[in-house]
Amino acid sequence: MGIDVGGTAIKGGAVSADGEVLDKGEIPAAVDEGPEAVVDRIAALARGLGARAALGLGVPGLLDRDEGVVLSSPNLRPLDGFPLRDELARRLGIAPPAVRIENDANVAAIGEHWLGGARGEDHVLMITLGTGVGGGLILDGHLFVGDGGGGEVGHTVVDPAGPPCGCGQRGCVEVLASATAARRRALEAGLSDDLIELAAAARAAQGPERTLLEAVGRDLGRGLGTVVTLLDVRCFLIGGGFGRALDVLIGGIAEGIAERSTGPDREDLRILPATLGPDAGWIGAARMTC
Ligand code: BGC
Repeated sequence: MGIDVGGTAIKGGAVSADGEVLDKGEIPAAVDEGPEAVVDRIAALARGLGARAALGLGVPGLLDRDEGVVLSSPNLRPLDGFPLRDELARRLGIAPPAVRIENDANVAAIGEHWLGGARGEDHVLMITLGTGVGGGLILDGHLFVGDGGGGEVGHTVVDPAGPPCGCGQRGCVEVLASATAARRRALEAGLSDDLIELAAAARAAQGPERTLLEAVGRDLGRGLGTVVTLLDVRCFLIGGGFGRALDVLIGGIAEGIAERSTGPDREDLRILPATLGPDAGWIGAARMTC
């Protein structure tokens, strides 16, 4: 069983070891009600999906995996310092080590690598475009986290003079290219902040909407360019709700990568859509337990 904790919704489900989705569900996160309420909701969703001996949990931010604690979550501040694993295990009546916590973008990468658009890729960076920008890095077929916090491409600085980010820096990819940032930039440009409308207008004609989404894509690409230079990763999988606008972001993304990367021939760069949609995170979280 896997659960994916987001700013607006908590999604979960059960999947068999050979990848068949057995059950799934979703409830509002209501994070403003505080961490105790969030963990109550996670437990209720897990119970509703049926008792399982082990559970994987995807959570945004930097985590202490050994202690099962959220250290710092720019978009879910109420969870900072909260002993999520132990509190959840207690409510479910299971041993704390049976609950594995992992970053939300990392579990999305695991899910997509197992059953989705990253299947068979040796090296791939999964990017989730939503309230924040998450990164999950697969190297040599395995999730890579360095000493724990690796893959956080959303907090790569692309414009040091840019807007302040929830992480404390300025001009991060997240504050320029997340769904939240795209809405802010649209309003600043006098456009609709409805991202579905914005993407539709960008698709329909060369106008200010397309210019804006190209600029948003370019800022994301600038962050990815650094990844290309450093790691020579050539496959990028774009997911998250705002990832559905990939067709209108992709030109800007490619430009940004070209502008900010160096190294061997990049002809074979691939920028692909994620294929598991909102299920990627919980499926990857579940995968950690089988
Ligand atoms: C957090 C990441 C998370 C991403 C998407 C970022 O602000 O730092 O850990 O993956 O948001 O939720």
